[in-house]
Amino acid sequence: MTDQANPNLSALAAKTAQETGEFPNLMLKEIFEQPRVLREVVAGRLDQATNRLTLNEVTLTSEQLAEIRHIYIIACGTSSHAGLIAKDLIERWTDLTVDVQIASEFVFNRPQTANDTMAIAISQSGETSDTLNALRQARANNAYIIAITNVLGSTITVESDATINVKAEVEAAVPATKSYTAQLATLALLALYLGQERQTLTSDQVAEYYSELSELGDKIALVLSQPSLESITKAAQFTAEAKSVLFLGRGNSVTTCKEGALKLKETSYLHAEAFPALEFLHGPIALIEPEDATPIVALLPVDPNDDSMNNVFDRVKSYGARLVVFATTSATKSIQNADRVIILPEASALQTPFVTAVALQLFAHDIATSLNRDIDRPRYLSKVVVEE
Ligand code: G6P
Repeated sequence: MTDQANPNLSALAAKTAQETGEFPNLMLKEIFEQPRVLREVVAGRLDQATNRLTLNEVTLTSEQLAEIRHIYIIACGTSSHAGLIAKDLIERWTDLTVDVQIASEFVFNRPQTANDTMAIAISQSGETSDTLNALRQARANNAYIIAITNVLGSTITVESDATINVKAEVEAAVPATKSYTAQLATLALLALYLGQERQTLTSDQVAEYYSELSELGDKIALVLSQPSLESITKAAQFTAEAKSVLFLGRGNSVTTCKEGALKLKETSYLHAEAFPALEFLHGPIALIEPEDATPIVALLPVDPNDDSMNNVFDRVKSYGARLVVFATTSATKSIQNADRVIILPEASALQTPFVTAVALQLFAHDIATSLNRDIDRPRYLSKVVVEE
């Protein structure tokens, strides 16, 4: 297998390269499109009179949906991180169990697919060979396949039983940004729909969570305005000379840290890894290099009263690390020892993975800018990875 750019996308990207408008590059332009994209993804899905969510793309009846026992989510790269957040939502809101599988490893994990299994294949491009191969295997074993993709008419849509378009529009920069948050919002709608149809959520709960999703455009617009933008740029400049950046979170934030670390590797070529904060103490803490003042980037828990990371902060600071913390205003009171604090808008547990992901997209972008990288066309990477 080789990395090979899809010729159509390459042509499109070249055309769009002249269309960065007021932005220095496409990645930043696409980051700033997220409020609009998120509003469009969420709009019009709830019947206000009945509080019922409509997802006509899912062609299974309520009775058929009730027979599903297990879900496999298959995806690569950034799309697999959207899958991890979706697993949490589906397991929280329904009685289903969910496995998230890196598509290229699906074949090795002895998946137990049958006709009571749903497979959700997530792919921005809809053409990633690893995801298509896993999808074909699930399909051969009678799973009902839902494609979550940004490209209608792509191969994944042709080979799936149902397609939900994430409506992010063309994403031309190689680092995925708006397609990721659009995938998250689409998957949140699917998780809500499954909860509604399986009657594990009440209609009031569906309406309440839908209302939180409807606020996403405004929340993200706040992340993309001052003073948040400036504090992220300053934190990025503070971090850019590092050899290695370590991300710490808890719960869903561990996934956002993985996505932040991937974005940083892709755009800046810096070594970056993500860890569950308390697990970091069980070995990886030895990675801190006092001479380099290794940067530790932490996302605080959603609960402002949860100070469980303070012990970790004390330890890493005592070994010479630099500490950069992303936190909501109400959580800042529990921060000790931080060298830089980026204040994010207040957000619910459902909204937090969106808000923090966008902040880490900006962080990666700003570090790459400091290092003068080719942000839209990082070395060795292409937008779509297909078999020759
Ligand atoms: C490539 C890209 C990644 C992307 C992955 C999955 O490796 O460089 O940025 O996350 O493919 O792409 P997909 O189109 O399937 O979401």
